[in-house]
Amino acid sequence: MPTPLINVSNRLPVTVSDRGIKKSSGGLVTALEGLPREQYDLTWLGWPGGYPAPDRQRGIEDSLREEHGYEPVFLSKKLADAHYEGLSNSSIWPLLHYLPSYFKYRTEWWEAYQQVNEIFAERVLQIAADGQMVWVHDYQLMLLPRLLKSGNPTLKIGFFLHTPFPSSEVFRCHPNREALLEGVLGADLCGFHTFGYLRQFRNSVSHMLGASSEITTIRHDGEQTQLGVYPIGIPAAAFEKEMAGPAILEKLTRLSAEHGGKRLVLSVERLDYTKGILPRLEAIELLLARMAQPERDAIKFMFISIPTRGGVDAYRKLRESVESRVGAINGKFATLHNSPVHFIHGSVNFTELCALYAAADVALVTPLRDGLNLVAKEYVACQRDIGTGGEAAADVAGAPEMASVRATPGALILSEFTGAAEELFSAIMVNPNSPEAVADAIRLALDMPPEERRRRMLPMRQRVLSYDAEAWASDFVRDLSLPHPPQSASLQLSPQPLLQAAIRRLRGAIEAGRRVAMFLDYDGTLREIIKDPFTAKPTPDLTELLDNLVRLKNVELVIISGRTTTDLDMFLGNYSRLTLIAEHGGAIRRGGSLRPVEEKWERLDTNLTYGWKAKVLKLLQLFERSTPGSQIEDKPTGLVWHFRRADHEFGEHKARELVQNLSNLTANDPIEIRRGRRIVEIASTLVNKASAVMRVLQEKEYDLVLIAGDDATDESMFRLELSESSTVTIRVGGGETSAKLRVATPSALRRFLRSAVSLSSAVA
Ligand code: UDP
Ligand code: G6P
Repeated sequence: MPTPLINVSNRLPVTVSDRGIKKSSGGLVTALEGLPREQYDLTWLGWPGGYPAPDRQRGIEDSLREEHGYEPVFLSKKLADAHYEGLSNSSIWPLLHYLPSYFKYRTEWWEAYQQVNEIFAERVLQIAADGQMVWVHDYQLMLLPRLLKSGNPTLKIGFFLHTPFPSSEVFRCHPNREALLEGVLGADLCGFHTFGYLRQFRNSVSHMLGASSEITTIRHDGEQTQLGVYPIGIPAAAFEKEMAGPAILEKLTRLSAEHGGKRLVLSVERLDYTKGILPRLEAIELLLARMAQPERDAIKFMFISIPTRGGVDAYRKLRESVESRVGAINGKFATLHNSPVHFIHGSVNFTELCALYAAADVALVTPLRDGLNLVAKEYVACQRDIGTGGEAAADVAGAPEMASVRATPGALILSEFTGAAEELFSAIMVNPNSPEAVADAIRLALDMPPEERRRRMLPMRQRVLSYDAEAWASDFVRDLSLPHPPQSASLQLSPQPLLQAAIRRLRGAIEAGRRVAMFLDYDGTLREIIKDPFTAKPTPDLTELLDNLVRLKNVELVIISGRTTTDLDMFLGNYSRLTLIAEHGGAIRRGGSLRPVEEKWERLDTNLTYGWKAKVLKLLQLFERSTPGSQIEDKPTGLVWHFRRADHEFGEHKARELVQNLSNLTANDPIEIRRGRRIVEIASTLVNKASAVMRVLQEKEYDLVLIAGDDATDESMFRLELSESSTVTIRVGGGETSAKLRVATPSALRRFLRSAVSLSSAVA
């Protein structure tokens, strides 16, 4: 039974234009087209490139669907330009390839990017059955996994990045970096060509989103994304078949007639600045200058430069520069017998391509950066005459007038900065930034004895033919279809029926006019944690919820936080009916039915002394100095060392060191060292949230008590010995807990609370 799979890429394998429908170019299409249809029941959704008039769209849609299983997503030119030429290829692409000097940005491009991702999401959600696998491809659709997951949480969503992923220092230049990363993390499985890219992605996620991760797992907001390495392959069988077929001979014969007797050095690529074409021409010029005339006349550098992204300025300019450079080199070195650089700005068909690969003595593949580079693998696949019983070698060698066909394999020169370099390790490796090194590598390749070429080619061929496009896809799909790795006990969310029962209890109590007290922590519980704690005021969603809650006359709403009284006044001071407890129970500002005449803050710790604070402060100052981005907060009841702005890994490391130092320094003091989220807090053991909750509960009787929190500082409340039948305790997010229920995120808690109060009419 073929596996049902929805494949989503920005580009469909075909491009529609006024002149008709033609095959699309690029590595993504080559590899994905190779997915065997007998194995996958494939629906492929993507943009067909052109802008047919609305009355033609229907016809095109029907024929693409019926003939190929393609679902074209038509976009207006304005929207597609801003999404494809704008944000995708002028903002994201240069950063992914470490070329920020090409980076351009406009807000309207970002808007279009979001809109196009939403259009794709809507189309996928229309056709995807529950639980179905959806495989999203590449940087043009980074928001799609999250949109799909929110639209239908049952989908199994994979994301594969076909480009490099750069250092977080480069990626963070992007104005929408967080949204892009969050978008990708909607996927259950996220694949990269190399482990290096995977590691860089994980670094960015950890630095920019603060998500925790292990080698191949990212945990965020109670969800989990697996990461994996899957270097893409070529459709090897199609190459083998073509090389063994009759058409290739005719092409080879023509090539031989046209370039007979000359050494052929071949480059094939989209005309893209990432491919290193200008530095390569510089290297060629250098080499030609070093050659004697007869040798110059006997060499041909052939460039197949596939037209691409012609609407983007940088690509237009590159074409002009390349053409003028080629003209200059030919002007300098051409003779009656040869013009050394043959530049073709166009595409070739599959047979011509295979013939060129087979005929080329050297493949010159020198991108400045390339996610993988399939051309290198394709060249290797077409080197059939390598003395390993290659049948076609005999056919090819038997053809008449085949000066261009070697009896031994050619040589591959490969940039170190391609993903393929990790697999094709016996190629001649070069640093493409050095024209000298590239010129030397071409010399080496031209002079390389046949035995060495054969020795180098053999392992590359084995790799390319065995780990092909089919193997790549089936490995990815196999991993995507695996059940999720079991969530660790500390992440197991409460099943829906349990949550629903709690909602019904709460709603019932409120509606029956019974007295209900809610003790809700703020940061990470009611409101999402953000990088700058001073700007964490309630979001509109939370404001609306609080407005509804404070209107309930029989509900005592208490926000209980580790924050200072000033912070709580600033964020929640407007709600006079709300009771605020600050500093983990150090001070209370009563509201609602608890409110006395004056509304001031009352200290709950008047009988305590804080003599230990001075020596702890000194130690914290040392850590503040040695950990850039960290900060001390001095509160009446304790001290807090914040490191959420510090480097994630370094901050965690220093926090461990600090806790160790503190334990020695304060062994005999009545203090508690608490590790919260990106904080270390040193507080009096005599002040805690549980004591503050008890103070409130002793003042009045309640029929039902709800307690919610998200970190270790809330656990003392969950451990209070209250009657189980009249208490609901909820932990938000991961971590060990004594709470009876767990939800994933603050927004899940808000949903819980909204459901509990939505039908309640017991308003003041
Ligand atoms: N290719 C093409 N049209 C041509 C010549 C080649 O589409 O006229 C294919 C080539 O066979 C290869 C792909 O374009 O499969 C280029 O993939 P690669 O991974 O090298 O680079 P990308 O274009 O994806 O950056
Ligand atoms: C690279 C990208 C692909 C893209 C291809 C061709 O391989 O990773 O996503 O489809 O280039 O580029 P184009 O802009 O024509 O789609």
